[in-house]
Amino acid sequence: MILINNIGELLTSDTNQGKPIRGKTMNNPGIIHDAAIVIEDDYFVALGPRHEILSKYEHKIDKEISANNGLVTPGLVDPHTHAVFAGTRELEFEMRIEGRSYMEISKAGGGILNTARRVRESNEDQLATNTAQYLQTMISHGITTCEIKSGYGLSTESELMMLRTIAKVADRTPMDIIPTFLGAHEIPENYRPDNKAEYIQLIINEMLPIVVKKNLAKFVDIFCEEGVFELEDTEILINAALSKGLGIKLHADEIQPMGGSELGVLYNAKSVDHLVAISEKGIDALSKSNTVATLLPGTSFFLALGRYAPARKLIDSDALVALSTDFNPGSSPTMNASLIMSIACSQMKMTPAECFVAYTINSAAAIGMDNILGSITPNKQADLAIWDADNYRQIPYFYGENLVSKVIKKGSIIKI
Ligand code: NIG
Ligand code: FE
Repeated sequence: MILINNIGELLTSDTNQGKPIRGKTMNNPGIIHDAAIVIEDDYFVALGPRHEILSKYEHKIDKEISANNGLVTPGLVDPHTHAVFAGTRELEFEMRIEGRSYMEISKAGGGILNTARRVRESNEDQLATNTAQYLQTMISHGITTCEIKSGYGLSTESELMMLRTIAKVADRTPMDIIPTFLGAHEIPENYRPDNKAEYIQLIINEMLPIVVKKNLAKFVDIFCEEGVFELEDTEILINAALSKGLGIKLHADEIQPMGGSELGVLYNAKSVDHLVAISEKGIDALSKSNTVATLLPGTSFFLALGRYAPARKLIDSDALVALSTDFNPGSSPTMNASLIMSIACSQMKMTPAECFVAYTINSAAAIGMDNILGSITPNKQADLAIWDADNYRQIPYFYGENLVSKVIKKGSIIKI
């Protein structure tokens, strides 16, 4: 057995029996001072005040890891990333600084299509090498599980190459990786301006059957947005994905209040993500559902949208709220989860406690992993971040800093 000893402050995210947390309870992330944790093999065995744990388990301990009186939290879960891509898009960043909008740039062939061209010129090995490096950076920020989407392929061959890349890096990293098929990320150039319906049929009749047969994805995601995939398109794609037994995630209500959130709830989507422009009806629908509202404030920040998802309203009306980086080369090139928490606090008025719940147990729920991980609960997977901090509030407070000191995945140290 392994003992994690000398924990100054332990944040468990376990204030609802290891299940996702809503409403006012989000502000109670489960704090124990002067604590210790016992791990056996891949799993948590016990946690509690140090003296209690020591008196019960001291004679059974084979190895001890000290938290040096710092903070210990569950390993963070990043439930929305586009971490497989080629090239970078700093020139578009500069174009936006000079006044052009994200949608303008994308209509002119930049944006997602720009990265899609780079991906097609790349190959599986190069993509895997890039992504493996990004995953190392994520681990250094305390992230132990993440979702990765395809979506820069936009042809059968390239989408499958992206999904194979995700499978390949998943085999090589200690992180748990959840793969999502995002063929409906953008309309490829050769289907514009009039052949979107044909591309949708290609996704349904050619791509999806192979994705399912080869078991390359757990979820299907769709960019439901004006001028991209409209509500009707999204519904057709959702039905196709559900009929093949895949779960649903949506990029919804990011720029226009399209009703994507309501549609996601109607079809029992695992999550609807972005929600900057969500309507009152959308908030109401989420508040009565198990669909997770995954907020990506790094995107509002980096695109300088001037507005953020209504996190307070969502939490106060009992919607399940998660946070994520949205790590991608266009709208959010960061892997720094602590910085996302800082932005969530200062711009969306989430409390530091709510941020940790959102980035652990609720983000695990957003990818269907909450039974296995996301909180420090006996029998859950032993995924931890140890921080050089006195308390959890210091994490979003020291904004832009990385206070992670050690990361543990399934009971093994993966970052010192
Ligand atoms: O989640 N909104 C669409 N997709 C990504 C951006 C992808 C890109 O710009 O490359 C997002 O923000
Ligand atoms: Fe995204």
